[in-house]
Amino acid sequence: MRRSPEWRVGKNWVEQATDALLERLSARPALRICLATGSTPLPVYQRLTASPAAFAAASVLLLDEFGGLPATEPERCDAVLRRELVDHVEPADHRTIDVDADDLDSECSAIDQWIDRGGLDLAILGLGVNGHLGMNEPGSDSDGRTASVELATSTIEGAQRYFAGRHRPTWGVTVGLRDLLRAGEVWVLAAGPTKAEIVARSLQGAAGADVPASLLQDHPDCTWWLDPPAATNLEM
Ligand code: F6R
Repeated sequence: MRRSPEWRVGKNWVEQATDALLERLSARPALRICLATGSTPLPVYQRLTASPAAFAAASVLLLDEFGGLPATEPERCDAVLRRELVDHVEPADHRTIDVDADDLDSECSAIDQWIDRGGLDLAILGLGVNGHLGMNEPGSDSDGRTASVELATSTIEGAQRYFAGRHRPTWGVTVGLRDLLRAGEVWVLAAGPTKAEIVARSLQGAAGADVPASLLQDHPDCTWWLDPPAATNLEM
């Protein structure tokens, strides 16, 4: 039986993760995928744009979205995912998160209904330096569903990498831990030395709500794709 979570470390993690996703899509063309933005998955998305046909029957759900930004902001999660992947591969279904909806609770419920229609086959996630998954910050309810949430200070500071001082979002809407932990398969992508400590805590520390990514220790089919600097603190 395979170990889960398993981790794969290599300089070529982008190529390997891309190939693995194309294999999943080939085996199951109507794959239902939840996709993070942030910076880490972007090289994978860029490679995937060379294989648009693979997504013809797939359904894509945006993992999370910052609140309070102008509709035209190019670093909104929706804009990033469209620009980097969706506009190139045109999946059969693409569900975004309308953080500007008048009734945000209804929008969150509608996303839960989207998930409930067929579940999530695969969630591709990044990792916050505090262990967050999506915008599920430390202390989030492991049974929580799509919701409007406050961002942790480190997330607000970290987001300055995307917005270059233009905005300082303090909240967002995220798919909840319940549905991420129940996805058929979960991948976490982490690269660079700033992730080394939290990668080790998530994979080899005590599992608990204070490090949301550590809750994946109990997931039956979870793979971490790591570059060598992100893996330096792991005990092999
Ligand atoms: C983005 C998201 C976040 C990021 C995380 C890591 O959709 O859900 O949880 O994945 O903050 O961000 P990067 O990849 O920019 O280091």
